Amino acid sequence: MGSRSSFLIVANRLPVDRSIGPDGTATWRRSPGGLVTAIAPVMQSRDGAWLGWHGAPGEELEPFHDDGMNLIPIPLSEEEVQLYYEGFSNATLWPLYHDVVAPPVFSREMWETYKAVNLRFAEATAEAAAPGAVVWVQDYQLQLVPQMLRERRPDLRIGFFLHIPFPPVELFWRLPWRTELVKGLLGADLVGFQRPGGASNFIRLCRRLLGLPYKGNEIFHDDRVVTAQSFPISVDFGELDKLARDPQIVHRAKEIRFELGDPEHLLLGVDRLDYTKGIGTRLEAFGELLDERQVEPGEAVFVQIATPSRERVEEYRRLRDDIELQVGRINGMHSMIGHQPIQYLHQAYDRHELAALYLAADIMVVTPLRDGMNLVAKEYVSCHHDLRGALVLSEFAGAADELRQAYLVNPYDVEGVKRQILAAMRATPHEVARRMRAMRRRVSTYDVDRWAGEFLTALES
Ligand code: ADP
Ligand code: F6P
Repeated sequence: MGSRSSFLIVANRLPVDRSIGPDGTATWRRSPGGLVTAIAPVMQSRDGAWLGWHGAPGEELEPFHDDGMNLIPIPLSEEEVQLYYEGFSNATLWPLYHDVVAPPVFSREMWETYKAVNLRFAEATAEAAAPGAVVWVQDYQLQLVPQMLRERRPDLRIGFFLHIPFPPVELFWRLPWRTELVKGLLGADLVGFQRPGGASNFIRLCRRLLGLPYKGNEIFHDDRVVTAQSFPISVDFGELDKLARDPQIVHRAKEIRFELGDPEHLLLGVDRLDYTKGIGTRLEAFGELLDERQVEPGEAVFVQIATPSRERVEEYRRLRDDIELQVGRINGMHSMIGHQPIQYLHQAYDRHELAALYLAADIMVVTPLRDGMNLVAKEYVSCHHDLRGALVLSEFAGAADELRQAYLVNPYDVEGVKRQILAAMRATPHEVARRMRAMRRRVSTYDVDRWAGEFLTALES
C-alpha cells in the first residue's frame, strides 16, 4: 500500500478475523457484529483504508487487501486483549452503556491498557492519513482516539460514531475516568449517536462535567465547535432484498421449513450470544406459552441462533450456561419424538443461510434489554419481499424508533412479550403485509448508504 489515504475508518476490529488453530494453521472469517455489517459496504464503495485489530493476539501483520478494501492491522498482545478488549471495553463500558444490565468492573489496570491501546490506534492513524484526510473513528473501544489524533494531526477532519447507546448522565457519572473519556470524544468535529437521546445525554454531560457552553447540538470547546447528532445506522437493503429473491435462497428457505417439520409458525432469533440481547426473556415467554397450551406442541418451532461472542468474559460464560440450561428444560418438557420446540444453534452462519432463515421465518423475535440499533431487525425486514413475516421488537432497541409497525414489546414484561407473540401468530396475512410494507419502505429509504452519506456530509461540511 505505502501511500497515505484521504479517507480512513478506525475500528477495534477489521472486517475479517484471523484465528490460529491448534495445529498452527490460520483461517480468516468475517468478523462478528453490526459494525462490520454496516461499515464494510461503505468502505467498499470508497477508496480508503481501514485500521483495526485482526483478531489474533500477539501477531503482527503487514497491511493487505481483502474484498476491495485496504486493511491495516493493529496488533494487540494477549495481555492487551484481556485488559483493553475483554476488560475495559467489554466488562466496563459495555455493561455501563447498556443500562448496567450487568455490573461493570472498574479496574485501574484495565483503564491504563485502554489508554495505551487507544494511543497506538491514534499513532497508526496519524501515520496513515494524508494531509487534510477524513478520519471516521468507530465505537466505544476507541473513545480516546479523536483527541489523541487531533493532538498529532490538527489538519484532519475527525468524526466519531458510537454504535451502542450513550447512557444517561447519572450512569456515566459512575466512571472514575469520565472526564478523560468525554475529552477524548471532544477531539472529534462530529460525534454521532444512534438515537437523539444519546446526543442529548452527551451534550448534557459536557455541560455538567466540563461546564461547556452549547447551542442546539453544537458544543463549544477549545475554540472549536463539536457537533453531537443522531444518525440511525442501517443495512444494505438493496443487497439483502436481491439476495432474498435469489431462487436458490427461496428454495433453501422452503427446505429449512421442511427440515423443521413444516410447523405452522416458525419463530426465529439471531444474535451474538450477549446478555443485552434478552434471549432468556424470549425463551421464557415461548416456554410459558407452551406450558399454558396457548401454543400446542408441534404447532411452532423456535430457532435461536446465537453466535459465540466474548467467550472469556465472565458474564458471557454464565449467560451461555443459563441459556443452555433453559433450552434443555423447555425441550425436555415439550419435545415429542421427531419434534423439538426449540432449535438452539451456537454457531455463526454465512449471509446466504441467514437470508434463507429470515425468509423462512414467520415471526422474528428481537427482545434486547437495551441495544444501540439492532441490525438483525432491519435485515429481517429487508429480506421479506413476500410481505410475509412479523417482527416482534423490543422498545429498548434503537430500531424501535423507526420500525413502529413491529409488534413492540417491553422485554421486562414477560406477559406482554407472550401477548405480542400470540398477536403476531394470529394476525391475518393482510395485517402482516400492511405492517411489513411500511417497515420495508422505511428501511429501503434509510439504508446504510444514506446513513454513511449523511454522516460524512455533515462531517465534511
Ligand atoms: P451487534 O452489533 O450487537 O452484534 P446487530 O443486530 O446490530 O448487533 O448486528 C449483528 C450482526 O451480526 C448482523 O449483521 C447479523 O446478521 C450478524 N449476526 C448475528 N448473529 C449471527 C450468526 N449467528 N451468524 C452470522 N451472523 C450473525
Ligand atoms: O456495536 C457493537 C459491537 O460491539 C461492535 O463494536 C463490534 O464489532 C460488534 O459488536 C461485535 O463485538 P466484538 O467485536 O466484541 O466481537
